[in-house]
Amino acid sequence: MKVLVAGGTGFIGSALCPALADRGHEVTALSRHPDETGPGGVATAMGDVSAYESIVDTVTAHDAVINLVSLSPLSDPRGDLSHEQVHLRGTENLVRAAEAGNTDRFVQMSALGADPDGPTAYIRAKGRGEQVVRESALEWTIVRPSVVFGDGGEFIPFTKQVTTPYLTGLPGGGKTRFQPIWVGDLVPILADILEEETHVGETYDLGGPEVLTLADVTRLIYEVEGRSVTILPVPMVTAKLGLTVADPLPFVPFGVDQARSLEFDNTVDSNDVTAFGYDEQALRRLRSYLEAA
Ligand SMILES: NC(=O)c1ccc[n+]([C@@H]2O[C@H](COP(=O)([O-])OP(=O)(O)OC[C@H]3O[C@@H](n4cnc5c(N)ncnc54)[C@H](OP(=O)(O)O)[C@@H]3O)[C@@H](O)[C@H]2O)c1
Repeated sequence: MKVLVAGGTGFIGSALCPALADRGHEVTALSRHPDETGPGGVATAMGDVSAYESIVDTVTAHDAVINLVSLSPLSDPRGDLSHEQVHLRGTENLVRAAEAGNTDRFVQMSALGADPDGPTAYIRAKGRGEQVVRESALEWTIVRPSVVFGDGGEFIPFTKQVTTPYLTGLPGGGKTRFQPIWVGDLVPILADILEEETHVGETYDLGGPEVLTLADVTRLIYEVEGRSVTILPVPMVTAKLGLTVADPLPFVPFGVDQARSLEFDNTVDSNDVTAFGYDEQALRRLRSYLEAA
């Protein structure tokens, strides 16, 4: 199959593109700033999903699109960028281009909790992007993972960036719950979705083998390095104001949306990894990844 991975040069795309090529697909990674060759030596194409004319010819030359384009929810968007422009308008443009050609299959990477009326701009844009995909004439599948970890991911570096060993402040004491899934477990699921008709019209909530709070993750990161950490709660109202905490605590540079996102758990009610033959408990744990890193 000729597969266009939009956002294929990013964290998840860099693992997915070589895996799809290994399965015999002809893969192109689309992004705004591609190198001559993409991850694992796949082809690349330059395009900006927020500009229809820049992507339409590339999209129509493919049988399937996997949309991994992202604007990170971990920091406030800069300049002209917005979650609506990237996650909603970008999805609209990819869907429109796919409908204009013979591109039947469309896999949309969304996020757990995606909701048009949700609490953050990221979650709202993801929710509205899902609506666009569902209302399309395409053979679509929507994937909503919890936080994804692995080489090149930003969850662990970000957590390290906003904390320090020994004593650190976290909004609300870091009680927000996550269900981190390893990119190496997610990639075969995405490849199966593309190849198996049974996944058409389905929305999958995906999580890893364990529920960890942000405080758990922080302790784990430093424990693996042989260091301990005591967590001091930063009141949510402080975090929401985007304030920093004075010495001796580290800076806590959360914007309002980042603070809001920490008021909601990022866990699945029912883990759809079972739809792909996975035993949730057999998936890779964060500790195993950190110890091997
Ligand atoms: N990582 C996670 O923990 C996680 C969790 C849940 C859901 N997700 C979702 O999974 C998907 C992939 O995430 P990721 O972590 O792999 O993202 P990432 O590492 O930030 O990669 C984003 C990719 O999108 C491209 N891109 C950004 N803006 C673009 C635009 N306007 N037009 C074309 N390409 C553009 C980037 O390349 P250029 O900058 O060169 O354009 C890059 O290839 C996203 O939809 C994300 O919301 C991720």
